[in-house]
Amino acid sequence: AQAPEDWDKPLAGKVAVVTGAARGIGATIAEVLARDGAHVIAADIPAAGEALSETANKINGTALPLDVTADDAGAKLAEHVTERHGGVDIIVNNAGITRDKLLANMDDARWNAVIGVNLIAPQRLVDELVARDALRKGGAVIDVSSIAGIAGNRGQTNYGTSKAGVIGLVDAYAPILAKKGVTINAVAPGFIETAMTAAIPLATREVGRRMNSLQQGGQTIDVAETVAYFASPASNAVSGNVVRVCGQSLL
Ligand code: NAI
Repeated sequence: AQAPEDWDKPLAGKVAVVTGAARGIGATIAEVLARDGAHVIAADIPAAGEALSETANKINGTALPLDVTADDAGAKLAEHVTERHGGVDIIVNNAGITRDKLLANMDDARWNAVIGVNLIAPQRLVDELVARDALRKGGAVIDVSSIAGIAGNRGQTNYGTSKAGVIGLVDAYAPILAKKGVTINAVAPGFIETAMTAAIPLATREVGRRMNSLQQGGQTIDVAETVAYFASPASNAVSGNVVRVCGQSLL
């Protein structure tokens, strides 16, 4: 680990991109990284509109409308950070979706949408930034997986597969990024109280809540603080890991 120059602002001088930052876990990650001194580029789909501007304004950051599944998403992001900041230090691949259906009723549209946002986009964004030399030495990539990617979940074969794939990405990319002085780690949240989980049926929600060691739903800050650790110089010797947050007790 490396002691930060300013203990109160361990990310001072760093530039961070957080995808899916308009609301939920991503919005809190953006706030925490800004609190720690980073300039945060909050990215989300163009339809996120006002909510995205609100996140960015609150933290004196930049709002970047960006659909991570667009063919030119990586190129656009690389161009933005290179032109404005000369590069980027921290990428948080947080944007994610669910399209739940029991396996018998699963269809290609749901399968492909979830794999596209949750798995292919994080891989392509990192590839494009590396190919364009936009990811700086000393940097960190943090991918948001899920405990559904460790143990699976009923009705979520597409989602669980995408999140297991994210763990595979971390394993595969850790040695590659190490050559560039960049770490890559994943957080695997359990049940966190957001709009995504508010859509889950009540009984399933209660099971999710009880999987937390505190026997209640986790908060977005629980995930954001773990991401902040992986983003900070304190973890520059830590790569290739998956940390469960609020979902440990039954798995
Ligand atoms: P959310 O639905 O509240 O927020 C997700 C954000 O991602 C939204 O602002 C949405 O507009 C954005 N997004 C979706 N598709 C996008 C795209 N193509 N390009 C750019 N942005 C896009 O969800 P929540 O709960 O905050 O989840 C954030 C991440 O955490 C996701 O990856 C999710 O899978 C993961 N997660 C959430 C858990 C929970 O209990 N809430 C548990 C485990 C993982």
